[in-house]
Amino acid sequence: MDKFVVRGGNPLKGSIDIGGAKNSALPCLAATLLTSAAVTLHNVPYVKDLITQKRLLEDLGATVLTPALRTHQVTADHIDVFEAPYHLVKTMRASVLALGPLLGRFGQARVSLPGGCAIGTRPIDLHLQAFEKLGAVVSLESGDVVARAPQGGLTGTTIDFEKITVTGTENVMMAAVLARGTTTINNAAEEPEIEDLADLLSKMGARISGAGTPTIVIEGVDELGGAEHTIIPDRIETGTFIVAAAITGGELEIRHCRPDDLRAVIAKLREAGVEIEEKDATTLVARRGPGGLTSRDVTTEPHPNFPTDMQAQYMALMTQAEGTSVITETIFENRFMHASELIRMGADIHFSGNTAVVRGRTPLMGAPIIASDLRASASLVLAVLCAEGETTIDRVYHIDRGYETIVRKLRSLGADIERVRQGIEAATGEMPAIPQPA
Ligand code: EPZ
Repeated sequence: MDKFVVRGGNPLKGSIDIGGAKNSALPCLAATLLTSAAVTLHNVPYVKDLITQKRLLEDLGATVLTPALRTHQVTADHIDVFEAPYHLVKTMRASVLALGPLLGRFGQARVSLPGGCAIGTRPIDLHLQAFEKLGAVVSLESGDVVARAPQGGLTGTTIDFEKITVTGTENVMMAAVLARGTTTINNAAEEPEIEDLADLLSKMGARISGAGTPTIVIEGVDELGGAEHTIIPDRIETGTFIVAAAITGGELEIRHCRPDDLRAVIAKLREAGVEIEEKDATTLVARRGPGGLTSRDVTTEPHPNFPTDMQAQYMALMTQAEGTSVITETIFENRFMHASELIRMGADIHFSGNTAVVRGRTPLMGAPIIASDLRASASLVLAVLCAEGETTIDRVYHIDRGYETIVRKLRSLGADIERVRQGIEAATGEMPAIPQPA
């Protein structure tokens, strides 16, 4: 298992390019199962989760060509397996996104029921209830969800989600585009990734309106065709690099991003003393303001409010802000795993239930620490970049799931960080045994 060894203290400086959004590329790749025609996706991030998704599509019988590293051309014209197996689902929950398109197009799907993960139990009951409302028969067999549509396929209906769910909304959209009649999703998730998926599905011939609002209406069509689509920039990677500039006291030009997708994050960071200049619609410059960082409370909520996927990074920043901040996590019940590791580095954090109280500013010291999930690992990397001395971060495979070539990017900005493979020191290599991105 790889580790990162970091010597903190260098202010990050320079320009960085943001990659495609992991949480949009995953459902967009799943959507390619809805047609036998070729679908080409550009700006697919080169991260572990997308490699897993590609493998899942190939296991189902699709052909996935990669004419360029971040371009996938998928042709699902020979799908002969309708099952997302346990060995893939256990490594990536988002494999459940195969359920909607398989059920919608082929009337059958079998997906291993994802277990809990580090940040919460994360059930998919709302997905399954919605499929049943569309007419499917859903059962659990030896740990697998087995869903079957009636003869003639699914039938459009009204889905009232009792709780906002991102992949639940995406799964129902993909099941409903080929259903008979109209489906209305109420209390739908409004994340930019939902709009991006709807954009792709519309290019494939689907009839969708209201994506990005609480009510999405889908008129079923008989079949979908091919399309070409570019995945939106990753708003969480963008937010992570804004925090990296502020926490290290550096200055970063962040390119190929979309500030409009993280308004709540930008507003909160500005409140806390981060200067964020929007040079144009896809470029911003971030630095710590002359007044330094000031503590500000935050509560995570569904989009367009402050995203849970930025909570851990924000907590790291608040350890370097003057005053006391209260961080309330309302989406996942166990998303403070990073706090204990920050405390090991000298942070003053008290947390219970879904609330954490951070007192700053506390100097952080290097210490051996362990990453527990994707965003927790990003938070720890940010913290060690401003810590005194040397730190070793274990289990960094978590960060490879969602951040493309993070060591290479940080080193290009002046960070003293290296990836160490058990027993082999590697200078700048990333993602071993897979061709390096250009
Ligand atoms: C998506 O997960 C993202 N993943 C997550 O990003 C993100 O944290 C989350 O949305 C919230 O923004 C992808 O898009 C692949 P939810 P998802 O369904 O869809 C409960 C990252 O770091 N719930 O919106 O799985 C659930 O337990 C990842 O990139 C049910 O109770 O999240 C949670 O408390 C981590 N029953 C809440 O709803 C259900 O059937 C929101 O979950 C579904 C969800």
